[in-house]
Amino acid sequence: RFDQARFIPADAIFALTAQYQEDLSPQKVNLGQGTYRDADGRPWVLPSVKKARESLFEQGLNHEYLPIVGLLKFQQATARLVLGAELSAELGIKVATCQSLSGTGALHLAGLLLRACQKSPPKVYIPEPTWSNHHQVFGSLGFPCESFKYYDHERNDMDIESYYSTLERAEPNSVVILHACAHNPTGLDPSEEHWRQIAHLMKARNLFPLFDAAYLGFNSGNLDEDAFAIRLFIGEMNMEAGICVSFAKNMGLYGERVGCFLLANKSKQIAVNTQSMLEMLQRSEVSNPPAFGARIASQILGRDDLKKMWYADMITMSDRIRSMRNALYDHLVSLGAPGAWEHLIRQSGMFGFLGLSLEIVLRLRGLSSIIILTWRVKEKYHIYMADNSRISIAGLNEGNVEYVARSIAQCLQD
Ligand code: LMR
Repeated sequence: RFDQARFIPADAIFALTAQYQEDLSPQKVNLGQGTYRDADGRPWVLPSVKKARESLFEQGLNHEYLPIVGLLKFQQATARLVLGAELSAELGIKVATCQSLSGTGALHLAGLLLRACQKSPPKVYIPEPTWSNHHQVFGSLGFPCESFKYYDHERNDMDIESYYSTLERAEPNSVVILHACAHNPTGLDPSEEHWRQIAHLMKARNLFPLFDAAYLGFNSGNLDEDAFAIRLFIGEMNMEAGICVSFAKNMGLYGERVGCFLLANKSKQIAVNTQSMLEMLQRSEVSNPPAFGARIASQILGRDDLKKMWYADMITMSDRIRSMRNALYDHLVSLGAPGAWEHLIRQSGMFGFLGLSLEIVLRLRGLSSIIILTWRVKEKYHIYMADNSRISIAGLNEGNVEYVARSIAQCLQD
């Protein structure tokens, strides 16, 4: 029966975390998986989350099922948060909402719905590079996926012209995956002017914008700023659009899988139908979503005092990341690390995209014996970053940033 099963290599990001955990060196630095760390390198429970959790326990928790599409208060508050109070009130029930298993679950639900509503699955355009799971989610659902050039590795910058030309010749009715902000892995987003042009080109060819919104508020520290593109497409441009919201990063709720799929529909009647389809699709996949994380998020979004605390927490996280980005840049420059590093400070959000070769990345990991033999290694490093030299800047702190910069400089000088 399963003779045809293929062996699938482990997910690169999770495999890297496992490699890091096995390394016994006290010097080790994890710049792999995108999870926030505090100034001492520890996971951070946001004070707003802690308070919301306490208040939930005080209220007395039960363990009943949520409705199939999730906790209504959470869905409504998420729509208000992402679209802004004015636009969400204006659209009202034209927006279908469904709680999801974080951002991945929302992307998957979006895929299921798109597939169920079309005779054959439309083409999905995905920027290159992108978060690795985009291809898996849509590929595994049978969508034909096409990568388009987002980044110019020579210039270490966005390739906006390629982006435009992809949209100009894209197959009408296709889906385009858009990173709402803090593009993963490059840290480079379109400017407001670029977004306007992207929206115009997409509207002209009837392309469906599907936003992956995993870093709202976490990117700049200002949620309204980070939601600019979403509100532009749906509000100003009056476009049909899907938004896959995750609260993993901006609330630090990684393991609770708190997310929501929002769909801005063309009419109320279509929204009633898509809402009912989401309910059926969710029932057949997970029956109903997990309650605990959504209850925490709902407390935060629904209470002014907690919401204020949360906004301050997002500033704490984005400020620390920004200062570590600057510190890494300063050390690389002052140590004379070969190459130009300005791209690092042009980028924003959780990730830095360094532009190092795979050889250097593996050498920094200190694990490839073949490379070690041929490179006359003087020192073994313990720095873990993705193969494409994406670093999770949150893994840096005052205690390791110079070590990381020095190691990079040494590897490049050897
Ligand atoms: C990442 O890109 O490192 C994170 O979003 C974690 C993940 O699930 O891949």
